[in-house]
Amino acid sequence: MVKKNIDSEALYKEVARLMADRKQCVALTGAGVSAESGIPTFRSKGGLWEKYDPIEFASIEAFRKDPSKYWSLRGEFIKDYDRYQPNKAHLALAELEHVGIVRCVITQNIDGLHKKAGSKNVIEIHGNLMEIICLVCGKGYKAPHIPDGMPPHCSCGGILKPNTVLFGEELPVGVFMKAKEESASCRIMLLVGTSAIVQPAASLPYLAKQNGAKIIEINIEKAFPEADYFIIEKAGTALPRIVAEVNKFSHE
Ligand code: APR
Repeated sequence: MVKKNIDSEALYKEVARLMADRKQCVALTGAGVSAESGIPTFRSKGGLWEKYDPIEFASIEAFRKDPSKYWSLRGEFIKDYDRYQPNKAHLALAELEHVGIVRCVITQNIDGLHKKAGSKNVIEIHGNLMEIICLVCGKGYKAPHIPDGMPPHCSCGGILKPNTVLFGEELPVGVFMKAKEESASCRIMLLVGTSAIVQPAASLPYLAKQNGAKIIEINIEKAFPEADYFIIEKAGTALPRIVAEVNKFSHE
């Protein structure tokens, strides 16, 4: 199999043709898809984990010891909910779902931007930062409407925690099971803006490939060497270009 890595008209056409023909496309996205919305990635240059130790700030053990640390990292983002908006990449994926090519978005992101962009079938395997739950009574809050305080407390007095999967926590079984089913049965996986190294999400493209899917990677650098196609480009540039090519096929 010859791997394609040229950023060219021909590459976009070929990828769009493949997607239009095969359909049953699942997107697995990571922080890179939200980078153009102004949200820092984790491991790229200037990424969050360059400045903060993930185990100190985002592990369940650290949260239990001192929840205000996690809140100091994430609280501003949660309160400034409207500042972050979907970018062209999120919108393009929603459009590809709308035209029946992408059937599901599996995301590692906790920013909720795929849903905000209009994608309907979204599996947020690491949870959603905007859903806040009380660790004592289970009461739910929705950002940005959460009590003040560092850390914020529920009306019952319990500590509030965003409904996200922290390091050291298991992914919710049903959610990851669904992601596995989607990955094993898709015919194309779009791998967008992820370093594809954090487990168990990193196992999903392998699962897709073992079951016959073609992998199209869209990233500013190659992160998944086993991909069949590489589009080395910003997601906000590449995905709208794919939509434009796909639309041409439907008008042929
Ligand atoms: N367009 C496409 N790709 C981009 C862009 C962009 N504009 N900007 C950056 N990237 C790519 C980077 O090259 C990198 O491969 O996005 C990827 C981001 O990788 P990570 O920062 O490792 O993010 P992610 O893969 O989502 O991390 C997985 O790690 O810390 C945990 O829970 C966190 O969900 C996260 C998980």
